[in-house]
Amino acid sequence: MASDRKGRQHESSWGRPLAALAVLLLGALSALMLLDRLYPVDLGQRQPIPFSHRVHAHTKTISCLMCHSQVLSTARAGIPPLETCLLCHSRIIRTHPYIALLREHYRSGRPVVWQRVNWLPEFVYFNHAVHLVKGIDCSRCHGNVALMDRVVPAQKFEMGFCIQCHRENKATHDCFTCHR
Ligand code: HEC
Ligand code: HEC
Ligand code: HEC
Ligand code: HEC
Ligand code: HEC
Repeated sequence: MASDRKGRQHESSWGRPLAALAVLLLGALSALMLLDRLYPVDLGQRQPIPFSHRVHAHTKTISCLMCHSQVLSTARAGIPPLETCLLCHSRIIRTHPYIALLREHYRSGRPVVWQRVNWLPEFVYFNHAVHLVKGIDCSRCHGNVALMDRVVPAQKFEMGFCIQCHRENKATHDCFTCHR
């Protein structure tokens, strides 16, 4: 009988702290959820491979143009193909799980589906090259991407944003420039 009582005592001596812990955790969880409601932080679009601009463009000071190489000559900046990643990652951190995943995508020909962050409606025409040859920096429209782990949009690309800079630079206001 003594051992029986001892067993029950044992049980109850853990039961209470565990219950208290569960209540605390639940409380903390709901507080976090409430905080997130009150102060939402845009962490940015989650990507299939957690590519970080901070690591590449800031810490390792790799030029934007190495990966977005068509940006000076075409309308679209474009997202680099996996071959570009493998220029470095066939040697650098080869065994990192995400680099293994990258190689797996490359080998199987299954594309990595990067989620878009910035976009304009279909009826608006935009061209990167015409802006860059005028010496406008990426950050004017995209913010300081080099300090972002996940890319977050820096601007709402509303008509007023485009027109205001066009006015300042005496660039065209013609409706058909942007709406063709
Ligand atoms: C090592 C390659 C690499 C470098 C260097 C790089 N990027 Fe990127 N960039 C990517 C990849 C991959 C994506 C798609 C995944 C993502 O959004 O993070 C991307 C996405 C972006 C996007 C968002 C695209 C969208 O969907 O709207 C912007 C804006 C961008 N890059 C700007 C820059 C700028 C500005 C620099 C230089 C400061 C830079 N990138 C340097 C590879 C690179
Ligand atoms: C010019 C060389 C270069 C290119 C191109 C490059 N990377 Fe990297 N990458 C690096 C270096 C350097 C590191 C840091 C390695 C380290 O921490 O030792 C890194 C780190 C990473 C990491 C791990 C970072 C982390 O947060 O732990 C991932 C994932 C990654 N790269 C993905 C990519 C993808 C996807 C591409 C193609 C869009 C790409 N890289 C293109 C050089 C490059
Ligand atoms: C004058 C504003 C402006 C500047 C400067 C600019 N961008 Fe963009 N960028 C945009 C807009 C607007 C979009 C969305 C385009 C769309 O949806 O058609 C975009 C989209 C992108 C994308 C997504 C893929 C694509 O091509 O649509 C990438 C990557 C990107 N920009 C990188 C860059 C880089 C790198 C630079 C500097 C070398 C840069 N941008 C400079 C306005 C700009
Ligand atoms: C930071 C200033 C700035 C911003 C922001 C800007 N532009 Fe421009 N844009 C210019 C300049 C400067 C030119 C060059 C005009 C020239 O070549 O005479 C130009 C040219 C253009 C052209 C080409 C005009 C032609 O002659 O073919 C288009 C299209 C265009 N912009 C669309 C847009 C759109 C759409 C946006 C908003 C998403 C935008 N721009 C935002 C400064 C800007
Ligand atoms: C420099 C580029 C640019 C020029 C020039 C321009 N627009 Fe726009 N326009 C835009 C952009 C970008 C949007 C998308 C706004 C959004 O999605 O909020 C837009 C949206 C619109 C819309 C849809 C509005 C809405 O709320 O959905 C209309 C209508 C429009 N423009 C008419 C015009 C007319 C008329 C002119 C000439 C007087 C003109 N635009 C000149 C860039 C331009």
